Amino acid sequence: MSNKKILFVCLGNICRSPMAEGVFRRLVEENGLEDTFEIDSAGLISVHQGEMPDARMCYHASRRGYELTHLSRPVTRADFDHFDMLIGMDEKNIAGLESIARTDEQRSKIHRMVSFSHYFNPDYIPDPYYGGDQGFENVIDLLEDACEGLFASFSH
Ligand code: 4NP
Repeated sequence: MSNKKILFVCLGNICRSPMAEGVFRRLVEENGLEDTFEIDSAGLISVHQGEMPDARMCYHASRRGYELTHLSRPVTRADFDHFDMLIGMDEKNIAGLESIARTDEQRSKIHRMVSFSHYFNPDYIPDPYYGGDQGFENVIDLLEDACEGLFASFSH
């Protein structure tokens, strides 16, 4: 398998996309494929640039054994050259990525996270920022499911 570079993208890069990065990273590590994948995350807004993931996301992640260490950063046009896949969490993220892409090749790198879901069938990964505990747990459930589907997509 050739080297795969994957960028998970949400709005603020402090909840969903760093969580997706953490879930996918653990799957890759559990399978000893650290040298095969490059994994990162980014946001469409830069207001949280340099910040750790949201404390509530970190808390719920830690209950399932994930340690989130990513620092928020905005998506750049250069990400469309460097990464093979840019995976958005909802339709606003997809629209934001499409507004940055400049070529058909760059547009072809944009994917929806839920297109890899296999057990659940959500329309999008909902933003947990303004909700309560259950929203964060739900995000992790959906991301664990979709990350398994994404990981499996590379093995056939
Ligand atoms: P995320 O959640 O896109 O999953 O990181 C959000 C975090 C911050 C904001 C919105 C969504 N915000 O508007 O500051």
